[in-house]
Amino acid sequence: MVNFKIETWGCQMNEYDSQKMAGILKSRGYNEVEKEEDADVFILNTCSVREKAAHKIFTRVGVIRKKFGKGKIIGITGCVASHEADNLFKKIPNLNFVLGTRSIHLIKDAIEEALKGKTFCDTSDHEENLNIKPEQIDRKKMVKAYISIMEGCNNFCTYCVVPYTRGREVSRPIEDIIEEIKYTIEHYGIKEVELLGQNVNSYNYNGKTFKDVLIEVDRIKGLKRIRFLTSHPKDFDEELVKVIATSEKICKYIHLPMQSGSNKILKLMGRKYTREEYFEKIDMLRSYIPEAVISSDFIVAFPGEEEEDFLLTMDAIHRIQYDNIFSFKYSPRPKTAALRLKNEIPPEIADKRLFVLQKYQEKVQAIKHKEMEGKIYEVLVESVSKRDKTRLTGRTEGNHVVNFEAGRGENLIGRFVKVKIISSTFTSLKGILV
Ligand code: SAH
Ligand code: SF4
Ligand code: F3S
Repeated sequence: MVNFKIETWGCQMNEYDSQKMAGILKSRGYNEVEKEEDADVFILNTCSVREKAAHKIFTRVGVIRKKFGKGKIIGITGCVASHEADNLFKKIPNLNFVLGTRSIHLIKDAIEEALKGKTFCDTSDHEENLNIKPEQIDRKKMVKAYISIMEGCNNFCTYCVVPYTRGREVSRPIEDIIEEIKYTIEHYGIKEVELLGQNVNSYNYNGKTFKDVLIEVDRIKGLKRIRFLTSHPKDFDEELVKVIATSEKICKYIHLPMQSGSNKILKLMGRKYTREEYFEKIDMLRSYIPEAVISSDFIVAFPGEEEEDFLLTMDAIHRIQYDNIFSFKYSPRPKTAALRLKNEIPPEIADKRLFVLQKYQEKVQAIKHKEMEGKIYEVLVESVSKRDKTRLTGRTEGNHVVNFEAGRGENLIGRFVKVKIISSTFTSLKGILV
């Protein structure tokens, strides 16, 4: 029997791809193991979005080789694989296989060739990776199911590798999406789905749009919560907000990455909206759904970002009062258009800006979390808390992570419970079962 282990970096899309690879391999008699010493095959499902993430792979492969020698098969899949293709064989001696994001359905073939002592590389733009049958996806005891509705991106924001790692946009037929969701409900008792796409708003299959997907998914019996990721502000419109507002199941949580508050920088980034347009969309969203939980991504120190541009970003964050922000220092990526931009920002200024932004957001979050204290929320229980085994952890509709005393214990995993928030910090919320 061949034992395998998959390590996953990056976003939900990669998690989902790892579930697909694990499922395919298990259905062919391969055995998944937890301990690295037990694995005959290591699969590193990689992220390339920032330089640091991509670099980690080389260190990680080095560590595995040093520990276990050449006896183990090592394969690189995912975004670094797509981005670098067969260059990886030059950079990593004794690498066994490389599979791009759109080739993960070939995982069994790659391993079989490696077992014969041959290398294997496929980074072409297949579509079969989107047609993997629901029964072949290993859901890993997760209480939430990731369901991809589209792959790839046509936006080419000037800083971003994703259009190069996940290819052009392709949407899945609605019937396949519905079938996969129904399967996860019937077989795993799934109550929450997260619809995935780099830009879900540009979903288009035979004239059906993202709104049609939401409306049809909303009708599925047994489902309680629907989330989606990611919305591009340029395509986020009133019709969509109306669908969200009137649905009982679609979570009132929206991730709407602004990236920068300066029109000059937004233009250089190729984001195709202005700060004013972004503010209008947030106002429109809040007019329909005043309680909406809103999060965003920001990049600081993009080439050409002057102090006044950064202050415009801070001003935007101040105006909007986000519930959560994912913030990053600009990281130059191969093949992207921003590489040609001049006026790079010195690292110490980049660090300072990131620090200022994050400190401000910590304060906002601390206040928002304080406001939640004493209130009762419905929480979908996800797992036993990693830090304290007597606690459970779960999420509110607004995607807030809540830790609470286990009480009746693990049998609550996968269930909805009511939790009263009793204390908080800017990063966490603690509660008790009611
Ligand atoms: N499809 C999503 C983004 C995926 S990447 C969207 O359009 O929002 C997730 C986040 O990583 C981006 O929103 C951006 O904030 C950040 N990011 C992407 N490329 C980056 C780079 N080169 N340097 C720093 N941050 C980057
Ligand atoms: Fe990257 Fe922009 Fe596409 Fe998002 S929309 S994946 S940031 S190119
Ligand atoms: Fe996701 Fe990283 Fe690829 S963020 S799409 S795994 S580059």
